[in-house]
Amino acid sequence: MTPARQSDTLSNVTSTTRGAEKDTVESGGPDATHTVAVHDGREWHELEVQHGRTLRAVLREYDLSPHGWVTEHVNCDGQGHCSACAVEIEEGADDPEHWLDAFLSGRDLGRLSCQIEVTQDMALRV
Ligand code: FES
Repeated sequence: MTPARQSDTLSNVTSTTRGAEKDTVESGGPDATHTVAVHDGREWHELEVQHGRTLRAVLREYDLSPHGWVTEHVNCDGQGHCSACAVEIEEGADDPEHWLDAFLSGRDLGRLSCQIEVTQDMALRV
């Protein structure tokens, strides 16, 4: 059963950098976007995201931060060291390459959103 999703279309996405976190928009035509469905604990939001963006940066940009009220300010700024940006991926992420992301994923403890590039349609819970 597909949950009801609130449409939240992203237009004019630009590249952003938060601290040392890489967030590069790759060039491409109009097909170089992906739909990212995000459940924030209350409802689904549907975002159109340019290919190659870092998931954590996108989530924060849309006020769907993966962080809690403390870890929003106390985190490793996307370096892959703290695990405070973990999200529950339901579908659509590439296999983890970063050691901590792989460690958490292998124990069903979530994925590090700072280590995931949006390369396909995705669904996740923050
Ligand atoms: S922000 Fe620290 S691991 Fe992602």
